[in-house]
Amino acid sequence: METIIIIDDEKSIVELLTMVFSKEGYAVKSFVPSGRVMDSLEKEDFDLLITDIRMPQISGMKILKQMRTAKPDVPIIVITAYGSIPQAVEALKEGALDYVVKPFNLDELKILVRNGLERKRLKDENILLKKDLQEIYSFEQMIGKSKAMKEIYTLIEKIATTDSTTLISGESGTGKELAARALHFQSRRRNGPFVTLNCAALPENLLESELFGHVRGSFTGAIADKRGMFEVAQRGTLLLDEIGETTPWTQVKILRALQDRKVRRVGGTEEISIDVRIICATNQDLKKRIEEGKFREELFYRINVISVEMPPLRRRIEDIPLLVSHFLQKYCRRMNRRMKRFAPEVIGLFEAYGWPGNVRELENVVERIVAIEDRETITPASLPPEILHPGREVKAPAGLDPGFNLTAYIDEISKRYILQALQSAESNLKKAADLLGLSYRSLRYLIEKYGLKEHQAEPPAGKAVEEGR
Ligand SMILES: Nc1ncnc2c1ncn2[C@@H]1O[C@H](COP(=O)(O)OP(=O)(O)OP(=O)(O)O)[C@@H](O)[C@H]1O
Ligand SMILES: [Mg+2]
Repeated sequence: METIIIIDDEKSIVELLTMVFSKEGYAVKSFVPSGRVMDSLEKEDFDLLITDIRMPQISGMKILKQMRTAKPDVPIIVITAYGSIPQAVEALKEGALDYVVKPFNLDELKILVRNGLERKRLKDENILLKKDLQEIYSFEQMIGKSKAMKEIYTLIEKIATTDSTTLISGESGTGKELAARALHFQSRRRNGPFVTLNCAALPENLLESELFGHVRGSFTGAIADKRGMFEVAQRGTLLLDEIGETTPWTQVKILRALQDRKVRRVGGTEEISIDVRIICATNQDLKKRIEEGKFREELFYRINVISVEMPPLRRRIEDIPLLVSHFLQKYCRRMNRRMKRFAPEVIGLFEAYGWPGNVRELENVVERIVAIEDRETITPASLPPEILHPGREVKAPAGLDPGFNLTAYIDEISKRYILQALQSAESNLKKAADLLGLSYRSLRYLIEKYGLKEHQAEPPAGKAVEEGR
């Protein structure tokens, strides 16, 4: 029998949930929220936790955080009041399985509980992963039908058959990690582990012990032997994320491991053979880092055997509507919200924006809108200012790299300004045309050409419609 624990300061909720889930055949226990509740939880053996997030005695967030270290495998569902949805989103980021908003739908909660327990069971039996994960990380997770993305899929499929060290570069948020996972799960190593190490997150000495492991007593704090990530990833794939941030000293150590296919734990003498595919990711220009003396050239050539360059979002704006609807579904489902839609002008503004944070930025924007917007149709009024009023200055193109198309680029800029003018002129075409220094007819022509649709277009007053330029 599986055990569910409920923590809520509202007695009526505790009673209701106890009744409902006992009837479903679970053992149900409840704890009174207090500063000491973690002590009781740690002693208890249970399979799922449902906790209110806002309680006078202790915050659900605190419980959540402590549970993550105390019992990382136990799924947690948080209950939140209508007004505190941003907090619930925070809870998801802290690792909660899901949340329900008061007054909640019991059937939905039952499904969440069932799924949570199912997941825990699979995890316990260690049979999740493998096939399921393979599905999760196949290309289905990577959204995009643009030419640039199709090229990426083809490339990944091709290099998945090799075992060569691969460098994935690209701006922040372009999906480098996603690509690395896809590569792993399509390779013959798919049943082995996929391990990620963020090289930027640790100081040099900790990074070394994280990479190579250490033996007990090799430095203060090394209280037990520890395997490094190279060993953890045996027969699988190791992603060295943000490799550009490592120090030259660490780079030499990594280079040696790659060349010898052997590692030695810090303080140890034994050489351990490693059978690991290495993928490195960076959002830096490594060639420039080499020139600056910050990156070892030998390592660069060693990791750059095959390279994948993730395209920035602004270079594949035709993927934006797809991505938007993907994230919309994801977050509406996750937050138990009714499905929303974006007004066409919003998509137009999205397409005109430069997205310096790429897909991650787009995802965050959609998530925030789903969390705070009640209306079903999202209009430009809900957009953050940087998207609504992009800089007036014409930005120089990032460079004439392959795929650059001047006409498309100029069209983009035109589109951006037209949308902005329509916005400021409150969709009065005559006023918008004035702002743009265009004639009424040219503006209508461009609106049609770019498919910006009729903005409740008002004909200009009188007959002052003449083609000026
Ligand atoms: N093609 C895509 N389809 C769907 N989601 C994507 C795509 N690309 C990126 N994402 C999402 O965007 C977020 C950022 O992706 P990811 O972490 O892979 O980027 P990154 O390039 O490693 O970024 P950083 O350089 O900041 O580490 C993730 O939530 C990921 O799921
Ligand atoms: Mg990353």
